Amino acid sequence: MNFKTLLIFLIVGIAAIGNSQGPTRKDIFGTTSCIGCHGQSAMGGLGPPLAQAKLKLKDFSSIVRTGKGMMPAIKEGELNDADLASIYTEVQAKPWVPDEIPIAYKVGQFLSPKSVSHIFLAAFLFAAIFAIRGLSYWLKCAAVKDLLPAVGQMGWFKAVGTILKSLVVDGICVASLYQADKKRWLLHGLLLYGMCGLILSDVLIAIFNPQRGQLPMTNPLKLLPVLSGLAIALGVVYVMYRYKKDDYIDNGVTLGKDFLFLNLLVHVVVSGFLVVTLKRFGVNDWVMTIYMYHLAAVFFLIVTGPFTRFQHMYVVPALAAVTRLTEAVVASGVDLGFEREPSPGRHHKSTKIAADVLKHLGEEGPIVMRYYP
Ligand code: HEC
Repeated sequence: MNFKTLLIFLIVGIAAIGNSQGPTRKDIFGTTSCIGCHGQSAMGGLGPPLAQAKLKLKDFSSIVRTGKGMMPAIKEGELNDADLASIYTEVQAKPWVPDEIPIAYKVGQFLSPKSVSHIFLAAFLFAAIFAIRGLSYWLKCAAVKDLLPAVGQMGWFKAVGTILKSLVVDGICVASLYQADKKRWLLHGLLLYGMCGLILSDVLIAIFNPQRGQLPMTNPLKLLPVLSGLAIALGVVYVMYRYKKDDYIDNGVTLGKDFLFLNLLVHVVVSGFLVVTLKRFGVNDWVMTIYMYHLAAVFFLIVTGPFTRFQHMYVVPALAAVTRLTEAVVASGVDLGFEREPSPGRHHKSTKIAADVLKHLGEEGPIVMRYYP
């Protein structure tokens, strides 16, 4: 596992916690989340400088309460009106020092909710194109083209039903693995449901908390991503354990990509938890930097997804659906010459078939098949 990264994160985290001083009555600004984006000296960070603010208190407060652009709404529970008013006075009194305007502000000016969503949309489109390309390659290997005339004979309505059922049973529930090996099913579940949980929470937050106001830890919008992150972290630890224990884990093709995928997952999860933890402990000057790092890690996870083990998530369910379709075609009375095809990726089935062949040849013993993806 990438202990070095973990260690650096821990050291950064601890150093940051050590740096944060307790609140003093005079410096409320310095203890709030504001400094994470507007800088200790109020000369800007990701957000604009607030020193010598020209805004009226009323407008200043209303921006804080309702949020603006990338700035979240900050409600009464987190910052009361009296403190907000004194922040206003404090930042107005701060000197204007242009030299202190950080480069981050130049970057920050390009980041708006719109531009960030465009960046991620572009990443998703890029990933989708290569995902479809990879998927069609594997469907070609599974000889879907040759199956189509027989599917026509069976009826398309039934075919669609079979595919949808398989996507739920074999894909989402990973049922065949549940029957074959509960431990490996659990490992798949942790990563699969963890990832689905994270995607779902992003969508739910965009709908129910678009200004990303601070929520209590017990809120479902907070619990879902935290539990999903934990599931992924556990899943990654288990995968790493398997890499240590399983002599055959290196299939000679995907090892580098597997590690890229696992590494990016570790970076995403650790930086995500660091952001939540630092926020809880009020280490506000680090939150934004690590959040930016978190977003960058998510970006790379999406962009590299189709070239890494991530393709497992859509290739294997698709191939399982082809297997079910083949079975349904045969059951409907069409003669294909075989009952179920050993799709690439369906290695536990392929293993059974290979064992059968060897048995016919008079050889016996354990068989290990390597597969891709
Ligand atoms: C997550 C980062 C972030 C945090 C935390 C944050 N801000 Fe902001 N803030 C911004 C950004 C980005 C803008 C610029 C928004 C825009 O114009 O699109 C901004 C704009 C503002 C503005 C308007 C400035 C102007 O001249 O238009 C005020 C006032 C302000 N913030 C006050 C605060 C205060 C007070 C706090 C703490 C209670 C705070 N902000 C916390 C990111 C943040």
